[in-house]
Amino acid sequence: MYVASKLRSDPVFRTAFDLLRETAEPLLDIGCGVGLLPFYLRERGFVPPITGFDLDARKVATATKVAAQHDRGLTFSVRDLAESQLQFRGSIAMLDVLHYLTVPRQATLLQELAASIAPGGMLLLRDSPREQSLRYWSTYAGEIFAQAVSWNLGLPLNFPEREAITAVFSPHEFTHEEIPTWGGTPFNNRLFVFRRRAAGADAN
Ligand SMILES: C[S@@+](CC[C@H](N)C(=O)[O-])C[C@H]1O[C@@H](n2cnc3c(N)ncnc32)[C@H](O)[C@@H]1O
Repeated sequence: MYVASKLRSDPVFRTAFDLLRETAEPLLDIGCGVGLLPFYLRERGFVPPITGFDLDARKVATATKVAAQHDRGLTFSVRDLAESQLQFRGSIAMLDVLHYLTVPRQATLLQELAASIAPGGMLLLRDSPREQSLRYWSTYAGEIFAQAVSWNLGLPLNFPEREAITAVFSPHEFTHEEIPTWGGTPFNNRLFVFRRRAAGADAN
């Protein structure tokens, strides 16, 4: 029921497919949870290799079990992003994860994300930028609720400033787009899309 309602109500999955279908790069899903995005992309016919990792062993076990039943070439592992550096080249999705990391780790991770995006690849990073708006505070309250009912791990919340995200992606190297993906919810879910420019492309 959770999967059905999430896929129906959250436009990020359709949006991610529409963006990623342009690319042939392998995809890494950081903080993949139960693997909703990888399974959705495969169902829609996205062919490149997809791997995902998450800190929550319970969610990774669910994703691994479903992947084994359906043999869709998806691999999932348990890994703590707070404790490990990225070693990857391709496209990356990181949906609703950044705010669980400390502010210093967010800063180093954003640099690692920028270095990991291959030419022709893209970063899809969704989060709720910290701002004085009803949408921001609704997102904050929603997170507290998800932790209270034990769906999400009880981690400290550090919602990032918008500028802390965008400043890392130089306009000379990346194009930048910001897409609202809150659908019918009161949340502040914004999808930041950074595409690495082809070498020699004009930033203007
Ligand atoms: C709100 S859920 C989003 C799950 C998935 N991206 C989705 O959109 O369905 C956030 C996920 O980030 C994971 N996470 C939080 N901190 C993490 C860390 N340090 N390393 C890896 N995953 C982490 C949580 O376990 C959780 O599954």
